[in-house]
Amino acid sequence: MAEDILRTFLAIELPEPVKEALGGLSRRVRAPGDGASWVRTDNIHLTLRFLGDVDAGQRERLILFLANAYATTASFPVHVQGIGAFPNMRRPSVVWVGVTPSDGPLSLVQLATENAARTIGLSPENKAFHPHLTLARIREPRGAEPLVARLETERGFDAGEFTVRGVSLFSSQLTPKGAVYTRLREFTFDPD
Ligand code: 2AM
Repeated sequence: MAEDILRTFLAIELPEPVKEALGGLSRRVRAPGDGASWVRTDNIHLTLRFLGDVDAGQRERLILFLANAYATTASFPVHVQGIGAFPNMRRPSVVWVGVTPSDGPLSLVQLATENAARTIGLSPENKAFHPHLTLARIREPRGAEPLVARLETERGFDAGEFTVRGVSLFSSQLTPKGAVYTRLREFTFDPD
């Protein structure tokens, strides 16, 4: 039923100190008329899997699958550092901060989201996983040189490490004022 459908994604939430560091970075590099949409600091997260439209039955099955998969997952540290752009800094479309290491526990946690997505009948994600925190989306890459120059001065940006203790399922409602994210469920890893 159409009213059951929500646009959803799975992501790792960030602790306050990391959000504050990202907010400071945005304030240093953004400028009026830079042609970029800056993500509100509170909305920044590490997306593991964008699911798109899923109905209530699919969400229920996804939750069961992931609650089971993550019950035996141990917490692990990640490092938030470096700045870059997709597809590249010469023609930036998305400005991001990196999360490392991308292999090891983070890739296993991401793989579980991919398996969960397939379990509920979604098409496989064929793009490689590049863990990143989206800071801004650039509307007109051709006018982005001054912004890129400011980003270059922040190449050494480092927000430090944090411990990943779980994964959240969010809905994303697109509004004229931007996306509104609502946490539907939090999956916490094995605390031991
Ligand atoms: P991004 O950070 O790389 O832009 C919620 O919208 C999250 O899902 C965003 O963080 C975004 O990742 C990702 N997302 C949104 N729309 C998407 C799409 N059509 N395909 C893949 N990922 C998407």
